[in-house]
Amino acid sequence: MVAATEHDSEKPTREYDFTQQDFESVKKLIYDRAGISLSSSKKNMVYSRLSRRLRANGLNSFREYLGFLNKGGREEWEEFTNALTTNLTAFFREEHHFPILERHVDQRKNKSKIQIWCSAASTGEEPYSIAMAVVNAFKSFTPPVQILATDIDTNVLETAQQGIYGMERLEKLPNEKLKNFFLKGSGVNIGFARVRPELRNMITFRQLNLLNDGWPIRGPFDVIFCRNVMIYFDKPTQYQILKKFAPLLANDGLLFAGHSESFHHAADLFTLREKTVYELVKNTGE
Ligand SMILES: C[S@@+](CC[C@H](N)C(=O)[O-])C[C@H]1O[C@@H](n2cnc3c(N)ncnc32)[C@H](O)[C@@H]1O
Repeated sequence: MVAATEHDSEKPTREYDFTQQDFESVKKLIYDRAGISLSSSKKNMVYSRLSRRLRANGLNSFREYLGFLNKGGREEWEEFTNALTTNLTAFFREEHHFPILERHVDQRKNKSKIQIWCSAASTGEEPYSIAMAVVNAFKSFTPPVQILATDIDTNVLETAQQGIYGMERLEKLPNEKLKNFFLKGSGVNIGFARVRPELRNMITFRQLNLLNDGWPIRGPFDVIFCRNVMIYFDKPTQYQILKKFAPLLANDGLLFAGHSESFHHAADLFTLREKTVYELVKNTGE
């Protein structure tokens, strides 16, 4: 008896042929475009996400789709990128960061303006959590704080901008936060909650590809959140991004990273201050 191979077990259930060469082409395209490094274990994921795009465009094979993409306009590139990003997020994810953020903001209360950049904002839970922490620090819903929330994925940004979440997304939040920061839906909106408009007013949402040169933004930022996105990039790409963060961060600013991300390979730029929170390497002028 011959053991079933990936090819044997998947072929009958697949609507479209998806060769190793097709997969390699997709890998190269998303790496060049978004910096995302896909491992070979992601082949099934790529198939299922992109076959929707083949269907939407009425195409019959991945080869056709790749040709269409290469010839096609900006719109399909955007859909291709949106399909291949992973957007997992949650309110107050990696909770230990938020008291640190609150303290940092609290210590800067005398500044006329505090700027925060959330650089992989996904569906908005992270920038809204930042806004809630800021409101707590200032004990005001109109603090002098601007939050820039960016992501490469235009679909998630739309969701983020709406600020409406199913109640199951809020399950883990304490009642006090629910009461202070959300408006529960009624009637047809039952089962959903909207973030208070004051939180939304603190945030500007914009598309930004971390891989691109010449980001159209101006610092200095008191805080940069870049959590759970660097894991999709290889080390040289991470370093290039960190090199662009450095001049945008205030001298006493903080860079928040995800739980499995470490920037030891950029020790010339950033130094670890506490668990997954970095600061700029101080230039001693020597
Ligand atoms: C796993 S989510 C993390 C969300 C949030 N930061 C958190 O920690 O909960 C990663 C996000 O990074 C975004 N992303 C991936 N590649 C990107 C790039 N090149 N530029 C900007 N954002 C990117 C994805 O669209 C996705 O929303």
